Amino acid sequence: LPETPKTPISLGFQAVAKSTADLLTVPAGYTATVLYALGDPLTSATPEFRNDGTDANFADRAGDHHDGMEFFPLNDAGTARDLAGSSRGILAMNHEATTDQFLHAAGVTVNPRPAAEADKEVDVHGLSFVEVRKTGGKFGYVKDSAHNRRVTPLTPILLNGPVRSNALVKTKYSPAGTSTRGTINNCGASPTPWGTYFSGEENWNGYFTRGAADDAARGGATARSVVSLVRYGKAQGAASRHGWETAGADDKYARWNISAAGAAAEGTDDYRNEMNTYGYMVEVDPYDKSQAIRKRTALGRFAHELGVFGRQVAGKPLAVYMGDDSRGEYIYKFVSSATWSEADANPANRITTGDKYLDTGKLYVAKFNADGSGDWVELDIGNPTIASYTGYRFADQADVLVNARLAADAVGATKMDRPEWCAVHPSTGEIYFTLTNNSNRRVEPVGSSQHGVDAANPRSYTDAPSAPSTPGNINGHILRLRETGNEGAATGFNWDIYLFGAESGMDAARINLSSLTADNDFSSPDGLWFSKKTGLLFIQTDDGAYTDVTNCMMLVGKAGTLGDGSAQTINYTKADGSTLAVQTRVGAKPTAATLRRFLVGPKDCEITGITETPDGRAIFVNIQHPGETIAKANIADPSKYLSHWPGNTGYGSGGNTARPRSATIVITRNDGGLVAADGNEVL
Ligand code: FEO
Ligand code: CA
Ligand code: CA
Ligand code: CA
Repeated sequence: LPETPKTPISLGFQAVAKSTADLLTVPAGYTATVLYALGDPLTSATPEFRNDGTDANFADRAGDHHDGMEFFPLNDAGTARDLAGSSRGILAMNHEATTDQFLHAAGVTVNPRPAAEADKEVDVHGLSFVEVRKTGGKFGYVKDSAHNRRVTPLTPILLNGPVRSNALVKTKYSPAGTSTRGTINNCGASPTPWGTYFSGEENWNGYFTRGAADDAARGGATARSVVSLVRYGKAQGAASRHGWETAGADDKYARWNISAAGAAAEGTDDYRNEMNTYGYMVEVDPYDKSQAIRKRTALGRFAHELGVFGRQVAGKPLAVYMGDDSRGEYIYKFVSSATWSEADANPANRITTGDKYLDTGKLYVAKFNADGSGDWVELDIGNPTIASYTGYRFADQADVLVNARLAADAVGATKMDRPEWCAVHPSTGEIYFTLTNNSNRRVEPVGSSQHGVDAANPRSYTDAPSAPSTPGNINGHILRLRETGNEGAATGFNWDIYLFGAESGMDAARINLSSLTADNDFSSPDGLWFSKKTGLLFIQTDDGAYTDVTNCMMLVGKAGTLGDGSAQTINYTKADGSTLAVQTRVGAKPTAATLRRFLVGPKDCEITGITETPDGRAIFVNIQHPGETIAKANIADPSKYLSHWPGNTGYGSGGNTARPRSATIVITRNDGGLVAADGNEVL
C-alpha cells in the first residue's frame, strides 16, 4: 500500500459563536456527551443520585467542582497501564470546591453547622479516580470498576521531602510530622513522566479559622508563625469558608480551627500547625491503591494551581513549572537532583519513582526583566538575601519551602497577574502560563496591595477609554517562556506575551493588543493544555468580565514560537497628565487560521480541566460550577436557578428544573478524526 501523504496539522473546525444560552456548544461535526457528574455513584451499592439535596455517601460518589483531570490508559483487559490504550482508562480528576446550597435539601444551615451537612461538604472535595470505557464507539463511566476511588480531605497522606518531620508540620494527628489527613481545593492537574497523577492544592487557606486573639497566644504580631499565617492570608479572626469547625468536638471538625490553645508545645495537643500540612503538590498512583499518596514538599508551599513537567531529556534533570494563583504572587520552578532515565517512563514502582525525582531538588522563583530576559532565583537558606531577610527569620531550608512566598519576597521576585495553568509545548519545549487577571494592577499603584504595570504584566485599564471605570488587568494574558539553551535546569530564560485576552471591540493600542475578533475573543484565560498528539493549544476561561456577552469558553490555537511578534509600547496617561510608556513584547497576532473558539459552556460555569486519549480522538473537558450563583432563599424555586445543566440535556433526573451539576464531558469528532485538528502529521 502507498504511504499516506503527511499533511501538517491545522485547525479542523468552524469557530463557535459566543453565547449566553444554558447549553454546551461545540462545532458542527463534533459531539459532546456528559460522562460523569456530581453525585454519580462509583460503586453498584451506592444509590442513584437524586439531586434534591437528600443524597448521602459522597465518599462513594463523584465530588463537586470538577477541575484538573488526566486520562490514564489501560489495556483492553483493564488490568494494567498501556501507554497506547485509547478505549479504556482511569480518569483522575480534582474536585476543587463546592456549590454548597445545592448539596442540601433546603440550602446551607449556618453556624453551628449540622455534622451531616459538614460531612457531605468535606466528602465532595478531593479527588476522583473513575474508569471510563468505550463500548459501541461511545465512552461511558464504569460504575463498579475496581479502579474507582475517592480521595477526600480525610484520606491519610504522607508528607515527603525536606519538610517531612520538621517542627512546622508536627500536629496532633501526626506528632512526628510525617503525615496529614487529606487534600483540599485541588485545582489543576497533570501527569508525571512515570504515569502518576499530580494535583495542586490551591485555596486551602480558606478552609481554616483562627481565633480573634490568636496572635497574642502565638507570641504577638511579630511571632514567626503569625508572620507566616498573615502572609498566607490567615489573619487572626478570619472566618473559615464553611464553618466545619463548628460541627462538633471530633478531631475531623476541630482541626479546621488552627488557634493556638495556649502554651502547648507544637504538635501535641492543638491544631496550630494543621494549615502547614496543606499547600503542596500531591502525587497519587492511579493504578495502585495500595501505594500511599505523597505531598511533595520540595516543590514549596503556596496556592498551587498545578505543576507541569518540562520535556524529559535523558541524563538531564527534570523541571516542574508552577504558578501561585493569587493577585501579585509568583511563578516558580522545581529542578530535580536526579537526572532522567528513559527506563523510568514505565517503571515497576511508580510512586517510588516519584520519590526519586520529586523529593530532592532546587526550588526557584521567576524574575522578569524589561528586555525580554528573565532569571530563576534559587530559594535556598544559603542565599544571604534569604538568610538575613528582616521580614521573616527562616529557621532552615524546610522553613524556606513552607514559607516559599516569604523567601520569594526576600529575593524580589516579579509579582504576577495571578498565575493559573501552565502548559509545555510538546515539541518546542516552550512554557506557557495563563495570567488570568489582576484587579490590583495599576498605572499608579497605591499601598502594598496594588502592583505597578511592568513589562510582563503591562496592562491596566485605569484610564482606558473603553473601560473607564474598571481598573486593573481585567481580561488577562498568556505569557510564554523559553529556557536558556532550552534546558530545564537553566537559571535564565527569555519571555514574550503570546496572547492578550480582550473583547474584540476594545482599544487596539492598549487593550486588544492581540487584535482578537468575534471568532476568538475571550477574557480571563485559566485552563491551558497542549495535545500531545496534535500540538494544538487549548485555552479555557474562568471569567467574570465578559459574561454579560458570553458564557465561559474553550479556544483552540496553533501556537507559534517565542519572539515571533515584536516589541510594543503601551502609553498610559498619569493623573498629572504625563505619559507612562511601558515596553513589552507581544507574540505574532493570531489569525482565523491560528485561533478559534471551540466550545461555549452553560450559564455561570467555568471551563477547566482537559485531557485526551493517547490516539487524540477523544478529549475530556470539565464544566465546573454551572449556576453556582444561588441564594438559600431561592433553593425552593427552580425558576430562580441560573442553570439547569446537565439535567436540561437529559442527563440524570430533573430535566428543565434540575439543580445544576459540575460534570465531565467527552468530545469526539463525528468522522472519528483527531479532535480540533485537520491533517495527520502528528507529533
Ligand atoms: Fe483553581 Fe486558580 O484556579
Ligand atoms: Ca474554580
Ligand atoms: Ca484555575
Ligand atoms: Ca480562575
